Amino acid sequence: MGQSTQLLQLLFMQYLVIAVTANNAMDDNLGLLSLKHELQNTPTSWVGADPCDGSWELINCINSRVTSIKLLSMRLSGKLTSDIFLLSELQYLDLSYNIGITGQLPSSIGSLTKLENLNLIGCSFSGLIPDTIGNLKLLRILSLNNNSFNGPIPASIGSLSQLFWLDLANNQLEGHLPVSNATAPGLDLLLHARHFHLENNKLSGNIPPKLFNSSMSLIHLILRSNKLTGRIPRTLGLVQTLEVIRVDGNSIIGPVPSNLRNLVNVEGLYLSNNNLSGPIPNLTGMNSLNYLEMENTQLQGQVPVSLFSLPNLQSVLLKNNQLNGLLDIGTTYSAQLQLIDLQNNLISGYTIAGGYNKELILVDNPICEKLSSYCTVSQPNNGPSYSTPPNKCQPISCSSGQVSSPNCLCAYPYSGPLVFRATSISDLGHSDYYTDLEAYLMRSFQSQKLPVNSVSLSNPIKDFSEDFIIRLQIFPSGQGCFNRTEVSQVGFVFSNQSFKPPQGFGPYYFIPDHVPYDCYAETKKSLSIGVIIGAAVGGTVLLLLLLLAGVYAFRQKRRAERASEQLNPFSQWDPNGGSGGIPQLKGARCFSFEELKKYTNKFSEENSIGSGGYGKVYRGTLPTGQPIAIKRAQTESLQGGHEFKTEIELLSRVHHKNLVSLVGFCFDQGEQMLVYEYVPNGTLKDSLSGKSGIKLDWMRRLKVALGAARGLAYLHELANPPIIHRDIKSTNILLDERINAKVADFGLSIPMGDDEKDHITTQVKGTMGYLDPEYYMTQQLTEKSDVYSYGVVMLELVTARMPIERGKYIVRVVQMAMDKTKVSYNLHEILDPAIGLQTSLKGLEKFVDLAMRCVEESGANRPAMGDVVKEIENIMQIAGLNPNVESTSTSDSYEVSKGNSGHPYCNETFEFEYSVAFPTSKIEPH
Ligand SMILES: *[C@@H]1O[C@H](CO)[C@@H](O)[C@H](O)[C@H]1NC(C)=O
Ligand SMILES: *[C@@H]1O[C@H](CO)[C@@H](O)[C@H](O)[C@H]1NC(C)=O
Ligand SMILES: *[C@@H]1O[C@H](CO)[C@@H](O)[C@H](O)[C@H]1NC(C)=O
Ligand SMILES: *[C@@H]1O[C@H](CO)[C@@H](O)[C@H](O)[C@H]1NC(C)=O
Ligand SMILES: *[C@@H]1O[C@H](CO)[C@@H](O)[C@H](O)[C@H]1NC(C)=O
Ligand SMILES: *[C@@H]1O[C@H](CO)[C@@H](O)[C@H](O)[C@H]1NC(C)=O
Ligand SMILES: *[C@@H]1O[C@H](CO)[C@@H](O)[C@H](O)[C@H]1NC(C)=O
Repeated sequence: MGQSTQLLQLLFMQYLVIAVTANNAMDDNLGLLSLKHELQNTPTSWVGADPCDGSWELINCINSRVTSIKLLSMRLSGKLTSDIFLLSELQYLDLSYNIGITGQLPSSIGSLTKLENLNLIGCSFSGLIPDTIGNLKLLRILSLNNNSFNGPIPASIGSLSQLFWLDLANNQLEGHLPVSNATAPGLDLLLHARHFHLENNKLSGNIPPKLFNSSMSLIHLILRSNKLTGRIPRTLGLVQTLEVIRVDGNSIIGPVPSNLRNLVNVEGLYLSNNNLSGPIPNLTGMNSLNYLEMENTQLQGQVPVSLFSLPNLQSVLLKNNQLNGLLDIGTTYSAQLQLIDLQNNLISGYTIAGGYNKELILVDNPICEKLSSYCTVSQPNNGPSYSTPPNKCQPISCSSGQVSSPNCLCAYPYSGPLVFRATSISDLGHSDYYTDLEAYLMRSFQSQKLPVNSVSLSNPIKDFSEDFIIRLQIFPSGQGCFNRTEVSQVGFVFSNQSFKPPQGFGPYYFIPDHVPYDCYAETKKSLSIGVIIGAAVGGTVLLLLLLLAGVYAFRQKRRAERASEQLNPFSQWDPNGGSGGIPQLKGARCFSFEELKKYTNKFSEENSIGSGGYGKVYRGTLPTGQPIAIKRAQTESLQGGHEFKTEIELLSRVHHKNLVSLVGFCFDQGEQMLVYEYVPNGTLKDSLSGKSGIKLDWMRRLKVALGAARGLAYLHELANPPIIHRDIKSTNILLDERINAKVADFGLSIPMGDDEKDHITTQVKGTMGYLDPEYYMTQQLTEKSDVYSYGVVMLELVTARMPIERGKYIVRVVQMAMDKTKVSYNLHEILDPAIGLQTSLKGLEKFVDLAMRCVEESGANRPAMGDVVKEIENIMQIAGLNPNVESTSTSDSYEVSKGNSGHPYCNETFEFEYSVAFPTSKIEPH
């Protein structure tokens, strides 16, 4: 998978080699456009040609390349585009706290080899974590917590040698903890990692002994609430750096290894809710141990007196075990000791040295049958309570949504639960801890120069899983709410772990609430799509994106034009009047609306044979019996009268058997309609895709290629003035009843005067996948741009693939598959099977050679259309066909004639689907 992504990237790199720097910046632009297209609610400032010009919010660049995208708490929804790989210089990608982001993490993420941070906290990603993640060799922080990822932890994560923070908590991950073996990496290789946060998944199997050794630098190991089995490996005792160990909430069996006492830095040890056995081990030496939790296990034997001497011990939670004998806390017990909970054990007596006055719970032990001390159920603990008080001011009442800050200012706070996942603070009621926490929070905002006025903490609770959760509200300074940039930056302080809590709080995560109010109310900039990129790679998504952008821009333009035009288009020119405005038509008729209405049976639905963004196409019949196709513009697609006129003039001038000819037009009653000859067999695309039912064997394909080439050569070389079509594609090549190709739709065509041989266009137009990259890059339009598009159609003819299919570009696909030393250039894999593989494809190599010359990067290296025509004629002769046969005889062997038993295609059924498809959309930026 990773390989194919890289391959794609490689192909993409090769594709536009015109200007290397421009290319890369263009990749970024394409990647961002695709990101923007797939996600709703990206910043409205993301417009304009250059993401690095400083106007795009939450994007950072270095040397005109995008290096960071941080879109936290942005209410984004949609999917992360697989085109993300185009942003090849990205170092930071943070989309945290956008619950609306769904779908998979695309495996193309593995191509972002410069990535240092990948934070996708609290989104709704699902599916597998792609293996390719192991390619991100520079990754330091990987936070995928609080999503719905499933499947295994990819072993490839073990290759991330720079990783310092691994957070996969709160997902649905399954399978084993991967450790390295002869063939695969594993988590044991992460010698720089300080954090393994893997809690709250469905991980199973043993905790592999191989996972730990003395070279590691882990400080937090959190495996709680999984389905782990087996014993606690002794090797855990080798990881001297550990500060927190949580393996509670699994199905761990066996004794607690005695060598854990080597872990002199461990503050919190959580082993509750397992099936342990044996005694409480000798923990002497664990001088940092503060919080010991081994509830609901099967521990037996006496509680060792030495346990209570650990100098920092505050809480000893041992309820629901089978501990027995006498309890002796000795005389040298820790001065910190706050709580010993031995509820529901088998303790039969105790020796409590004088002076111990903190909490001891012996409820539900045999001793309580006789004695009453320590045996009463204490008041149900209400838990800690705290709420940041006002800072020497009088809280005020605020309008809806706003909250009075500790400094008594009304504002919209950025709020959410701050979750500490292993706090070793016992006395959570003590307000000093909270004022410390507030001070640390403020300090981290100030050090990043963020406009935070104050923070407020409230509702501390320790939940069933021993997570300590407190509600945090962060108040903006000044203006009442954080703007988009500020919200994202404040969120990043948490997602990047820049905020370091005071000692004892332990690792945390913060998942802010949906920002409920619209504080992003920036003045909407008018959408000026500076340059819409039209290069032909990056996936079909991009195609859609560009089409949408094009349609949008097109409509905006039309709207503006219509506003300035009068409602009556006849004010511009009157086909019946003599004001010099009559279009100079050659053979095209002017129809009235009433006439066309009659010919189409009132534009009835059964006469509708196609539709698209521009409107609908209807079939009709002239009184002479001639079938016609009427393209009727819908209101949104009406052109200016002048443009319509120009188009008609242009169309009426071209007459060639391989061009769809204009019969007439209608410019009446606010309608704009073009009346074409009716071409019965639909588009080439329909035939290639099998939709039309017409089978195209090799010979027919050659004939179609020749026809289209002749039509184009006519436009380029014989029309006066020459015309560049600009939108050659398989949906613009129609097939008549004899499978003759007819080039259609001149909507984008440009006539060229002699002085305009190198036409500089301000707008790059065309269709993704067919668009000439040189034209795109230089905006310099020549006939060779049509040659490029035509070359793509030739490749479509051999492969029946769309130009961009599943993110792969047909030109590169053919190029990569091609082996000139082999028969048919070894292209069997990608040839359209319907081409008739059983017969030898005479001339195929030459045809492919020609196509590849047509799609040369430099227009100068492409043949002219006239040359293409000659070459295809030659190829046809090689294949044993007379290229001119169709014009000389109607009974030639390629005529469609049903039921002719001597006919080579007599066994085929031809379903004539009477449709004339016109292209539905185009890129038309401005
Ligand atoms: C994170 O995920 C866990 C498990 O799904 C869930 O219990 C918890 O509420 C989530 N936290 C937040 C702040 O959404
Ligand atoms: C090596 O580890 C990988 C992934 O953890 C596993 O799929 C593979 O079966 C292991 N190979 C051997 C030989 O154990
Ligand atoms: C720890 O494990 C890693 C990977 O398995 C290995 O490279 C390293 O040599 C081991 N260190 C020790 C001290 O065993
Ligand atoms: C522990 O073992 C007992 C029996 O040995 C079993 O009933 C129980 O489900 C186990 N508990 C866990 C958490 O595995
Ligand atoms: C626990 O270990 C310490 C250090 O090895 C030792 O001094 C002490 O006697 C042990 N305690 C018990 C009860 O075995
Ligand atoms: C958001 O606020 C920052 C100052 O904190 C300012 O520089 C920026 O222009 C603001 N962004 C918008 C879109 O108003
Ligand atoms: C993210 O945090 C790391 C250390 O935790 C720090 O080195 C890095 O500068 C931070 N990144 C940003 C962009 O603040």
